[in-house]
Amino acid sequence: MKLICCNFKMNLLKKDIINYLDVINNKIKKDNLIFFPSIPYISMFNEAGFKVGSQDISFKELGSITGDTSILQLKELGISYTIIGHSERREYFDDDKYISNKINLALTNSIKVILCIGEKIKQEKIDTEFLKKEIDEAFKNNLNLINNNNLIIAYEPIWAIGSGEIPSNICIEETIFFIKKHIFDKYKININVLYGGSVSLDNIDILESVKGIDGYLIGGCSLKPENILNISSKLM
Ligand code: 13P
Repeated sequence: MKLICCNFKMNLLKKDIINYLDVINNKIKKDNLIFFPSIPYISMFNEAGFKVGSQDISFKELGSITGDTSILQLKELGISYTIIGHSERREYFDDDKYISNKINLALTNSIKVILCIGEKIKQEKIDTEFLKKEIDEAFKNNLNLINNNNLIIAYEPIWAIGSGEIPSNICIEETIFFIKKHIFDKYKININVLYGGSVSLDNIDILESVKGIDGYLIGGCSLKPENILNISSKLM
């Protein structure tokens, strides 16, 4: 069953979360659905019986890092997943240098990782060197921890995020094939790959015809509960 990961980013307030839960409760399949709300609302989804994750974790387990949130604290809120290396974290918080370390912290704490990778600018052909570099930097010090089940790649071309545009089917298919093959050839791990970047009700049917997609990491479209009900019913 394909995964549906809803990344709310820094959106929605408590009243919106209450309404969201009202709209979806008892109407949606929970097994393949994971919510990544802002930290104050993680426990609301958890208490309603949904799987939850954080949008990031601190690079330290505990300590003097003002403004950061520890994985141990997030675990207390009920997370079983965390996104690592989202392009917005890489851009605004210099996260490139912490990726390997954050993956290590998550996996040693039994939290599954959704690792985001993707090129900045729309390319004529796949930028295999760039993708390999992002993958290898994330994997190199964590090989003893990563397995088929605890790390998922989200292929999110940065230019597609929030733009309303998605790559062509063939481009997504070839890129996902490349990511899976590189990881299998080099690390002997069969990895699942999500697609993210402007997933919407307008393109979900097109995306569903692409081979190799194991699920979606959805931003803007996931802010409306009706959209997620709709997408969830299509993927059943
Ligand atoms: P959009 O779906 O809003 O393009 O965001 C994608 C994303 O960044 C999910 O992590």
